[in-house]
Order: sequence, then C-alpha cells, then structure tokens
Amino acid sequence: MALPVPDLHDDVVALRPPNPGDVPAITAAVQDPDISRFTMVPSPYDEADAVAYVDSSQAAWRDASRVSFVIVERATGTLLGAVGVHHLDHAAGTAEVGYWVASTARRAGVATRALRLVAGWALGDLGLQRLEALVFTDNARSRRVAERAGFVNSGVAPARVEHPSGLRDAFVLVRTADGVRSVEATRSSAS
Ligand SMILES: CC(C)(COP(=O)(O)OP(=O)(O)OC[C@H]1O[C@@H](n2cnc3c(N)ncnc32)[C@H](O)[C@@H]1OP(=O)(O)O)[C@@H](O)C(=O)NCCC(=O)NCCS
Repeated sequence: MALPVPDLHDDVVALRPPNPGDVPAITAAVQDPDISRFTMVPSPYDEADAVAYVDSSQAAWRDASRVSFVIVERATGTLLGAVGVHHLDHAAGTAEVGYWVASTARRAGVATRALRLVAGWALGDLGLQRLEALVFTDNARSRRVAERAGFVNSGVAPARVEHPSGLRDAFVLVRTADGVRSVEATRSSAS
C-alpha cells in the first residue's frame, strides 16, 4: 500500500520525495568523498546512479518499503541533502535512518533539522516504535547530529556495517516512540 507523502518542514528546510529534476543536484552533491566514506552511497557516482535512486525511491513510496526525501531550502527549493528511512519493518515497528548534506550547506543545522522532522514523523504518524542510526565511530559530527535529533547512543557495534571499505564499527543510536513521549512529558511538566 502506498504511503501518503507527509508535509514535513520547519522555518528553514522542507522534505519531499526526490524527482527526476533533482538528478543534476544530487549527482553534483554526492561527488563529495565524505558521503561515500560515511554512507552506503556508492563511489564513483554519476547521473545514472541518481536516476536509479530517484526511480527506486518513487517505487519505494508506492510499496512502502523505504522512505526517501530530499532536503531542500524552504525559501528557494535549493537541494541541500537527503534523508531516508530504510529497512522498514512495519510489523516490528522498526527502521534505520540515513542522511547526507551537500558540502556547501553544512554546519548550518540542516541535517539536525531534517533528522528531527523525519524521526518525529516516523515515530508519530508512520507508527514506528524504534529508529536506529548506525554511525561509523570516526564520524563524530554525524553522531552529534543524531544526538541533537533525540537519538541516544547505545554503544559501539563492532564490524556492524558492511561498507565497500570493509566491515566497519558503528555507534548504534536509537530513538524510540516511548522516548519521544517521555521527552514531551518532561518538557510539559517542566513548563
Ligand atoms: C554529517 C552531516 C550529515 C552533518 O550535516 P550538517 O547539516 O552539517 O549537520 P548540522 O549543521 O546539523 O550539524 C553539524 C555542525 O554544524 C553546527 N551548526 C549547526 N547550526 C549552526 C549554525 N547556525 N552556525 C554554525 N554552526 C552550526 C553544529 O553545531 C554542528 O557542529 P559540530 O560538527 O561541531 O557538532 C554532513 O557532514 C555529511 O553529509 N557528512 C557526510 C555524510 C555523512 O556522514 N552522513 C551521515 C552518515 S551516519
């Protein structure tokens, strides 16, 4: 069953499914070596890879197997990055999140904003119970992004991710629907 596309935005960024018009901007952004170093996005990466990503993302929205968004600047529509919910298990209520931001748009809070939006929706309207971010242990910046977006570091999983560079140790950062409720409860009891 197709997933309804949510309206996810804050004052600065908006999330929407990728479309064929995004192919040049995605291809250009993904040339940054840190993206293939820290994610499963392949390298080398050309327009055919971006076309395949857009096509598979659109199919995944239709069969609810994965959720992919591009992150755009709300005011201009400029593509800033991508964020996704993968390994979706609707029966178990679990999934994994992944994200990248174009090198030209970094250090302005884009990833944190996008991850907060997607996690709040996935653990809310989408009905998941648990989201996991697997962050390589040498990717301190991404770890801080996940923590700022409400994920809690549950430790290092040795050789957890099969990356082209080899099996990689990863921090397992988790955010649960219960965690969201307890944080909200703490906030409202404090106010
Ligand atoms: C990791 C990554 C997604 C972070 O994206 P980002 O949009 O730069 O992340 P944020 O801006 O939300 O946070 C990063 C930094 O910007 C800082 N920042 C946030 N808002 C800021 C602002 N208004 N002014 C200055 N700095 C700011 C944050 O404090 C943070 O600093 P820190 O690195 O010292 O902690 C990006 O570097 C990336 O795409 N890396 C390669 C792919 C990758 O690692 N993906 C994650 C795989 S798990």
